[in-house]
Amino acid sequence: MTAPVCVTAPAKINLHLEVLGLRADGFHELAMVMQSIDLQDQLHCENTSDGSISLRCDASELSCGEDNLIVRAARLLRERSGFSELGARMHLKKHIPIGAGLAGGSSDGAAALVALNELWGLGLDASQLERFAAELGSDMPFCVAGGTQLCFGRGERLEPLPPLEAQLGILLVKDPDVRVSTPWAYSECRRQRGSTYLQDEAAFEARREALRAAQWLHPLGGEAPPLRNDLQTVVEPLTPSVRDALQCLASLPNCLQAAMSGSGPSCFALFHNRGEADRAKDQVQTQLDQLGLRSWSCSLIPHGVKLMA
Ligand code: C5P
Repeated sequence: MTAPVCVTAPAKINLHLEVLGLRADGFHELAMVMQSIDLQDQLHCENTSDGSISLRCDASELSCGEDNLIVRAARLLRERSGFSELGARMHLKKHIPIGAGLAGGSSDGAAALVALNELWGLGLDASQLERFAAELGSDMPFCVAGGTQLCFGRGERLEPLPPLEAQLGILLVKDPDVRVSTPWAYSECRRQRGSTYLQDEAAFEARREALRAAQWLHPLGGEAPPLRNDLQTVVEPLTPSVRDALQCLASLPNCLQAAMSGSGPSCFALFHNRGEADRAKDQVQTQLDQLGLRSWSCSLIPHGVKLMA
C-alpha cells in the first residue's frame, strides 16, 4: 500500500475572457488569460483494497456522487489506466465558493487526476492529464498546471506564460446565495451578441495573435492587466449582486481594475500589492456585509494543483 496523497487545488480568475465565435461542436471559441490565485481547496486520497471509489466533503451543499468532477476524474483515470482493481477513498476540504466562476469544481477534478496519478503510481505527465481533463470540462486542463496561461479553443488549448511581473493583490467578492449557470451565460451571450461573432478560423487566429502580443503579458510589461470579460457584459445587467459587487469594488481607493470572473457571479478588484487588497477589504467590510457579499483577499500564484509535503 502506498502512503496517502494530499494536494492543493487553487481557484482561478479570468484576467481576459473574449468570446470569439461559435464552434461546430456548439461550444464557444474563446481567447482567455487565466490566472491561479491562493484561494485553495485540499484533496486527500488514500488507496482502498476493494476497488471502491468514494468521496466525502465538509461542504454539505456539494454532491459527492457520480456527478462530482472528482469522482468522474477518478473513474476516467482508472478506466484509461487499464487497472480496474484500483480504488480510492477521497476527502475534500472546500474553501473555494461553489458555482462562483472560479473553477472550483474544475480545480478539484484536476486535483483528483494529479493526486491519483501519484497514489496509483501511473507515471502520466501533465500533458496526458490535461488531455483527460479536457474530456471532463473546458476549464479543467488549465487547472492542472495553472499559473498564468493563455487558453484558446473551448479553453483546453493551453499556452503557458511566464508569471506576471506585478505583485498584484486581489480582493474577491461573491454573494453566497447567488449562482450563475455557465450554459445560461453562454446561451445568453449567443442570443445577445451572436450576430457579431467572428465567423472563421482566420479571424479567430488574428485575435489570438493580438492577445499573445499584449504588452502586459510579457516580462518587463509590468503594467496591471486591462481586464476584459465578455460574459460580464451579458451577466451584469441581469444579476443585481454582480452590479453591486462591481460598483462597490470600483469605488475603492487604489483599485486598479475590477471585473467579473468566468461566468460569474464572483467579481474581483486588482490592487498594486496584497497589503493594499487587505486594507481595502477592512475598509469596505461594513458595506460588503450590508450587500450580503462575502470577501477574500488573495495573491496570484504561479502554479496549479500541487502535492503537499
Ligand atoms: O465545459 P463545461 O462543462 O465547463 O461547459 C459548460 C457549458 O458552458 C457548456 O455545456 C456550454 O453550454 C458552455 N460553454 C461554451 N463554450 C465554452 C465553454 C463552455 O459554450 N468554451
